[in-house]
Amino acid sequence: MYKIIDGKAIAQSIREELAEKITEFKKNAARDIGLAVILVGENPASQIYVHNKIKACEEVGIKSFAYYLTEQATQKELEDLILSLANDDKINGILVQLPLPAYLSDKALKLIPDSKDVDGFSANNIGKLCLNTQSTVACTPYGVMKMLEYENIEIKGKNAVVVGRSNIVGKPMAMLLLNADATVTVCHSKTKNLKEQCQKADILVSAIGKPKFITADMVKDGAIVIDVGMNRDENGKLCGDVDFANVKDKCSYITPVPGGVGPMTITMLMYNTYLSAVRSLN
Ligand code: GUN
Repeated sequence: MYKIIDGKAIAQSIREELAEKITEFKKNAARDIGLAVILVGENPASQIYVHNKIKACEEVGIKSFAYYLTEQATQKELEDLILSLANDDKINGILVQLPLPAYLSDKALKLIPDSKDVDGFSANNIGKLCLNTQSTVACTPYGVMKMLEYENIEIKGKNAVVVGRSNIVGKPMAMLLLNADATVTVCHSKTKNLKEQCQKADILVSAIGKPKFITADMVKDGAIVIDVGMNRDENGKLCGDVDFANVKDKCSYITPVPGGVGPMTITMLMYNTYLSAVRSLN
């Protein structure tokens, strides 16, 4: 029998706890917590993500500052905006929604100070994660770790296979699992015998963005399967990287899409923003 990990319920429970912590913080510090969200252009998926991030801020008591730039915005305009937010005491976190339109450079992200890098994307934060010292951890892999923690899933000594090596998910995910004493394999588009690699996984995390790519024959009996994918299937329906209908019966735990990792990502963004505010007092 498999158990579906209910990301929505776990996220809700973390948000409720967090809302209390934030109320307490605002009372004791006599100040608000602010998150700046920058969206450039009109990517429909990004618009939904940004909308949900702003909604989550309201839910937990964080003040959001949304900046919508058109596709006419220049690199300099984006960079000037980030610099002004970097110097603004009301702002504890700065989030630039990715992907940026192709004509803009990700170099702008380097202007976000580490202390306000609530995405955990900066070289310093990634480096600290590798060194296993205190860092801001990228929201999606952090959310996955919280889900495993909530389900009391032991990681130590397990074979963990991460499919995907992006800077946002795959790499930090692998590092977090390694820091938690898993034996970690990272697979990607050039990996040979992907199926055999995946079959060794006690914990399989897929973050590649290919609908229903992980099929039942790739999954070991009793595996824990975490699906980070957010794709559309042939009928335009939201689906993950995992062929859920056929894979689930082989699993001990599995996350659905939607309602799995997705709600956790935004929750961890709220959590990171709160932590930024707490650290700003020290
Ligand atoms: N685009 C997709 N995922 C993310 C994320 O976690 N942070 C940002 N800033 N953009 C994204």
